[in-house]
Amino acid sequence: MSQTNAALIERKNQAVARGVGLAHPHFIESAKNATLIDVEGREFIDFAGGIAVLNTGHLHPSVIAAVTEQLEKLTHTCFMVLGYEPYVEVCEKINALAPGEYEKKSALFTTGAEAVENAIKIARAHTGRTGVIAFGAGYHGRTMATLALTGKVAPYSSGMGLMPGDVYRALFPCEMHGVSVEDALASIHRIFKFDAEPCNIAAIILEPVQGEGGFYVAPKAFMKALRDLCDEHGIVLIADEVQTGAGRTGTFFAMEQMGVSADITTFAKSIAGGFPLSGIVGKASIMDKINPGGLGGTYGGSPIACAAALGVLKAFEEEKLLDRSNQLGQMLTESLNQLSVDFPVIAEVRGLGAMIAMELMKEGKPAPELTAALVAKAREKGLILISCGLYGNVIRILVPLTIPDAQLQEGIQIIKQCFTELL
Ligand SMILES: Cc1ncc(COP(=O)(O)O)c(C=O)c1O
Repeated sequence: MSQTNAALIERKNQAVARGVGLAHPHFIESAKNATLIDVEGREFIDFAGGIAVLNTGHLHPSVIAAVTEQLEKLTHTCFMVLGYEPYVEVCEKINALAPGEYEKKSALFTTGAEAVENAIKIARAHTGRTGVIAFGAGYHGRTMATLALTGKVAPYSSGMGLMPGDVYRALFPCEMHGVSVEDALASIHRIFKFDAEPCNIAAIILEPVQGEGGFYVAPKAFMKALRDLCDEHGIVLIADEVQTGAGRTGTFFAMEQMGVSADITTFAKSIAGGFPLSGIVGKASIMDKINPGGLGGTYGGSPIACAAALGVLKAFEEEKLLDRSNQLGQMLTESLNQLSVDFPVIAEVRGLGAMIAMELMKEGKPAPELTAALVAKAREKGLILISCGLYGNVIRILVPLTIPDAQLQEGIQIIKQCFTELL
């Protein structure tokens, strides 16, 4: 064994800023599909997927083939200087996939936060307004403007002072924690009354299923009401699909299941199977409001990342991964609901498609310690889990859609053993 986790963690602690956390004390040497191998040769089942980046698994053959082919041709021109076909092809394909009965255009960037920032820029240019309404427990990134939108202070913006202004926070509907659709809508009307008139609001941004916030699915009635509000007041509705997109929820975009469409949709993470690519797709008339030069970035839509995205889209088509997403979601929901009979600390199993979570409660209160203990025990037994939620009491499952059934069941059995030992 040439390396140990302990030695690498020690080097990390010496060399890397403390703010860059590490959820699991392991360094990974290699990975394939849903299997991770650490530097000590220990194998793990990956139920985290690099936080929703690996819907097609680690090193999917279609992605690797597309990237390898691209690597032999071209790695960079900067699309704002000289064009290359894969960028345009990704945009054409995303325009065709994104929900909304209107002509669409796209733009590509590198990270999810960058996509969100650009969606806001376009909404501001389109409306000539500056205000944005975002939601409690929403997560939109770690850059300054996206931190202003992110509805959870610790750890994301703790100690960093006030974030950029003209952002108003509404309540996200969550029956389990006492917020109805009516309460959430009333909180928006309160903003209109107390803080900012609708004519000053450029955009309402939300995740169709809150990711970091705890996998709460926005009710269709809420989305419809938001759509109506936006139409009434000329506000741009932005669906942040950075985590929900690329097939995680059983449709390519979660908004396909919401009965209404957004004006602009962000995407990133699993769109390029582990390579850094993000983007926005929206109504052509809105997307074109910014003049040439106003959108872009040195690496945005790099040839390699675009090739990877084309590999991902090919895998979705060839392997019918949307069907698989729904099938996995069903299997996970059934298994976890079954577990909740023996372990009533599992207060709720919820999600959309294969974006599934279980929320742990003890005596009617969130159970973050138990959640952390479960994550640690599962790791000891060879399963990588991650938690989320405003109270840190939600286990979210973002397993590759390409995982074989037997390995999925193995992971579920580990969760069962952990509950047995912990409770
Ligand atoms: C919904 C949502 N938006 C934006 C982001 C930010 O993406 P990135 O970390 O690539 O900047 C994330 C990341 O988790 C996310 O889940």
